[in-house]
Amino acid sequence: MNATENSRGARAEREDIADHYTRAGLLAAIEDGVATLGKTPASVSVEDLAPVDEFHVGGREASEAFLDQLGLTPSDRVLDIGCGLGGSARFAATRDGCHVTGLDLTHGFVSTGRTLCDWVGLGDRVSLQQGNALTMPFEADAFDAAYMLHVGMNIADKPALCAAVHRLLRPGGRFGIYDLMRTGEEPLQYPLPWASLAAQSRVGTPSDYRAAMAAARFTLVAERNRRDFALDFFARLRARTAAAGGPGPLGPHLVMGDTASIRLRHLVDAIANSSLAPVEMIAEKAQ
Ligand SMILES: C[S@@+](CC[C@H](N)C(=O)[O-])C[C@H]1O[C@@H](n2cnc3c(N)ncnc32)[C@H](O)[C@@H]1O
Repeated sequence: MNATENSRGARAEREDIADHYTRAGLLAAIEDGVATLGKTPASVSVEDLAPVDEFHVGGREASEAFLDQLGLTPSDRVLDIGCGLGGSARFAATRDGCHVTGLDLTHGFVSTGRTLCDWVGLGDRVSLQQGNALTMPFEADAFDAAYMLHVGMNIADKPALCAAVHRLLRPGGRFGIYDLMRTGEEPLQYPLPWASLAAQSRVGTPSDYRAAMAAARFTLVAERNRRDFALDFFARLRARTAAAGGPGPLGPHLVMGDTASIRLRHLVDAIANSSLAPVEMIAEKAQ
């Protein structure tokens, strides 16, 4: 394959991913959910939005435990790669007082996410923009920390991704990853939340990530498999949903649409049989 065909293929793959995540009417659905909570765009909080805008296993709870390991401070400039609707970016900015730049491939997530930032008054501390994680338009050493929540399952070239992040971090900066990784041999059932078909999925093993980070000259400082937390989280979610007679006004079903329950069922089964696990890795760029 020549370079032109290769770049056409990469563009088609990016469009396919953005199409996968694009949901018509998402902002209106969130606004309806907010109204059902008895709130308005002017009164809704970062906390209220968490069930819908933290699109990864464990939601806000997982973000909290993950961000604890980055040690963010109010003077930090932070990059959220594949920020989606920007829920974790708003949470980090609120909790740690830092400035967060979020970048995401899916235009609809970015535009909806910007509106959510305005609703909660964070437009000055969280800026979201559309873009590709492999070609991020920022200066070298521009960020004190970077993180990525459930994005690597859509990106085949993990060494290029880690190299791109390494360039953007200042010396001593931390890079946190929380992704679903392949931890067993059992075939995966599709659709899953990040891919409708096997051909769209780019899930890697923990050793793929370790090798990509080492090749980019990152030092891995912590790694944690969150399987038990995830299964407990899903059991609590199931119990809450059953008790309420259905999903709450705001939830991942708004982001995933009609196929939400089958996607989540396949994901929970894969975590239960250990063919996938949500894994955190924290790495550091040398001083
Ligand atoms: C499962 S969602 C997670 C969103 C967000 N990190 C969160 O946890 O709420 C995966 C996100 O990765 C984004 N994404 C996938 N490939 C990307 C790429 N090459 N560059 C930037 N964003 C990408 C998708 O658009 C989507 O918003």
